[in-house]
Parts: sequence; structure tokens; C-alpha cells
Amino acid sequence: MASEGELLVEWAEKHMPVLDQIKQRFEKEKPFDSLTIGACLHVTKETAVLMETLRAGGAKIAVCGSNPLSTQDEVAAFLAKSGISVYAWRGETTEEYYWCINKVIDQKPVITLDDGADLVGTLHASRKDVLNTVRGGTEETTTGVIRLKAMSEKGELKYPIIAVNDAYTKYLFDNRYGTGQSTLDGILRATNVLVAGKRFVVCGYGWCARGIALRARGLGAQVIVTEVNPLRALEALMDGFQVMPIADAAEQGDIFVTATGNINVIRKEHMLKMRDGALLANSGHFNVEISLSGLAEISIKKRTIRSNLEEYTLRNGRKIYLLAEGRLVNLASAEGHPSEVMDMSFSNQALCVEYLAKNTCMRADVYNVPKEIDELVARLKLIGTGVRIDEMTGEQKEYISSWKSGTI
Ligand SMILES: NC(=O)c1ccc[n+]([C@@H]2O[C@H](COP(=O)([O-])OP(=O)(O)OC[C@H]3O[C@@H](n4cnc5c(N)ncnc54)[C@H](O)[C@@H]3O)[C@@H](O)[C@H]2O)c1
Repeated sequence: MASEGELLVEWAEKHMPVLDQIKQRFEKEKPFDSLTIGACLHVTKETAVLMETLRAGGAKIAVCGSNPLSTQDEVAAFLAKSGISVYAWRGETTEEYYWCINKVIDQKPVITLDDGADLVGTLHASRKDVLNTVRGGTEETTTGVIRLKAMSEKGELKYPIIAVNDAYTKYLFDNRYGTGQSTLDGILRATNVLVAGKRFVVCGYGWCARGIALRARGLGAQVIVTEVNPLRALEALMDGFQVMPIADAAEQGDIFVTATGNINVIRKEHMLKMRDGALLANSGHFNVEISLSGLAEISIKKRTIRSNLEEYTLRNGRKIYLLAEGRLVNLASAEGHPSEVMDMSFSNQALCVEYLAKNTCMRADVYNVPKEIDELVARLKLIGTGVRIDEMTGEQKEYISSWKSGTI
């Protein structure tokens, strides 16, 4: 499978010009000479490009998947063949998933890269033996950052972690346009249903959910948003979407997608109200947003219809369909985010790993991505995209930083 994986990685590389520039610099400067890096990331073609970038900088790398269903096996095979320690395959059991994480920890990483904080969680819960060797880490996603901040507030986080998710050049693009497009891609690959004319319920109106709502509307769906945050609900309303509680949306929707980072957002009482044929998918980090135990409880029969599509016959006689076992539909049933957005997310990752390697005296806490890194990624992305922008004149710089001129 490695040769197939190699072509996929080559394709991703072609669409990741910012990371390529960073790789070329790392090759010369070797900022990670002999440093061991442990990564728990979705093992996709884009992750392979990041791994190669870090290796070009001199790092020794061990990587495992950050979701049991998201590994692209061809890519894992290619990475293994090229000498990177890979512990990942598609369809891991929960036990195997944590076995893989522990294998990465066994390599005694000095810097960790995480997506969802399972690696950091395992290090702090059951592998304290290795905690002392870790100098710093990065975190890729919203759910991981929330977990790390909770650890930090309780004084339980033992090393500094940079919240890559919270960089503008990450969440404004990856979470919004990446999740938006790839979630629709995942739903289409699993079902091939027509989206036009469907009532499409999006649970949440955060960065991921607004991308999903936008793309569903683009395909002609009537989009309904459910929220718990009044500000975000208001934004959804003024962006032109219908807003209502999930209990009401449950009766109306044809397709439901959760992207909240929260638990049991769609529960059995909602599923019992759904129309025959309703599709349920999740794009939030963990498979807890759709209550799987609730679904099992109210079902009398389950069949696999096709890859990533399971039919549940409910006790009320209706059938509803669960995509990708309620796991991240964009990664389990499609290929995750397009390379162009991962170019920005992973350039932040690469530069933050370099920052951690250079700044060895940071306290254990959760840090924002340094502004210079965020701005550099945006600037390089524009250059890579061939877009030029204006520069302020001297007069404008002075004007914008002065309080002296007012109404003329
Ligand atoms: N699929 C992917 O590839 C991918 C990419 C990035 C992030 N994520 C994950 O997606 C999730 C959302 O991330 P985000 O960046 O959009 O977060 P966010 O914090 O911007 O948005 C989450 C939104 O969900 C809302 N919410 C919480 N509970 C709710 C409930 N019960 N009903 C309705 N709305 C509710 C919140 O009010 C908030 O507006 C996280 O788990 C994140 O890790 C997935």
C-alpha cells in the first residue's frame, strides 16, 4: 500500500506551499536535531507532509492516530516505509487505540503534538513515568484545548502546550471552510443523497458548524440551526438560517449534523420524533454528540447498508440512518480537510514545535500561538496563493496610531 500512499502524500504536498517553504528552511537549519517528537494526529496525507517537514528539521518521529476510524492505511504504510514509527490503522478498537498511544509514549517524546488531548491525557493519567521527559506540546482542536484548559485550571497540566486551534490562521479556515466542505463530502460519500431541497439541521453555530451550514445552503438545503449560546444563535438567525431547539428541529430535519464539542446533543427523545429516513452524522471531535446508547435502546434492528452507513429500525417502525458510527464524518467517511487548509493549520504546528524547541523555559500552561507565527502563516499563504495586498503608506501608519486628528 506504501506506493499508493506515496502518491497521495505527493498530491497533498503540491497543495501545501507554506509548509513546503518551512520544510526547506528546516532542512537547512535543523532546529530539531535528534529531538524525539510524539504525535497523536489523524493519519492523513496532510499529516504525512507535516511529519516529513519535522523530520527534515532533524526530528525523530513516532505517530499514532487521533481517532479509531480516521487513519488512511495507505498513508500509514508509506510513512512506515519511509522510516517513521507509525502506530495506526483504520478500524482500531478502543483498546488498540490506546495501545497505539502508549507505543508513541514508549519512545519518550520531548515534544508532543495532539488532536483532542488523548495523548496528553494518557501521559498525565497512566504514563507519568514519561512526563518528565516532555518539554512542551501543541494541540490541534477545540475539544483538546478545552480539556487542556480544564487541566491547567486545576493545576494538573505538567508541561506547556500551545493551542494551535486558537490561531486565526487555524480556526477561521480549517474549522470553518475545512470542516464545512469535508463534512458535506463525508455525507455525500456515505449516502450520495441529493442535498438540494432537504431540511438540513446543524447542531451548534461555532466555527465548524457555521462552515457546515454555509456549504449545506450552497448545495440548496434549507438549513436549521440549533444552539445553546444566545449570541451564536442570533448570528445564525441574522446569517439567514432558521433557529429552533433540537426538540422542534428533530421533527423537521432530513439530515442532522452535530458539531458542538458537547455530549448527548441528539438524544433518544429527539430520534423518536424524527422522520422515516432521517440521516444522522457528527463532525465534532468525539463520538458522544449523538447518543449512541440512546439509539441502541430505542432500536429493534440494525443493518449495514453500505460503507459508513447503518440503518436502525426504531421501535416506532421508522428507520433512521447513522453515518460513520457517529465518529467525525469528514474523516471517517471522506478524507478530512482539503490540503490547502491543512497547509495553514500544520504550518502553525511546525512553527510552534520550533518555538517550543527554542523556548525551553515556559511554565506549564496553555499558550496562544505567538502573533508573529499567525501573521507569518497568513502572509506566506497569500504569497503561495499568488495574491498580493496593499501596504500602509507612512502617512497611514502614523494616522492609525495617533489620537490627535479627529473630525475635520
Ligand atoms: N471534523 C473536524 O475535522 C473538526 C475540525 C475542527 C474541530 N472539530 C471539532 O468540532 C467541535 C466544534 O468545534 P468548533 O471549533 O466549532 O467549536 P466552537 O466552540 O466554535 O463551537 C461549538 C458551538 O456549539 C455550541 N453548543 C454547545 N452545546 C450545544 C448544544 N447542546 N446544542 C447546540 N449547540 C451547542 C456552542 O454554544 C458553540 O457555539 C469540537 O469538538 C472540535 O474539536 C472537528
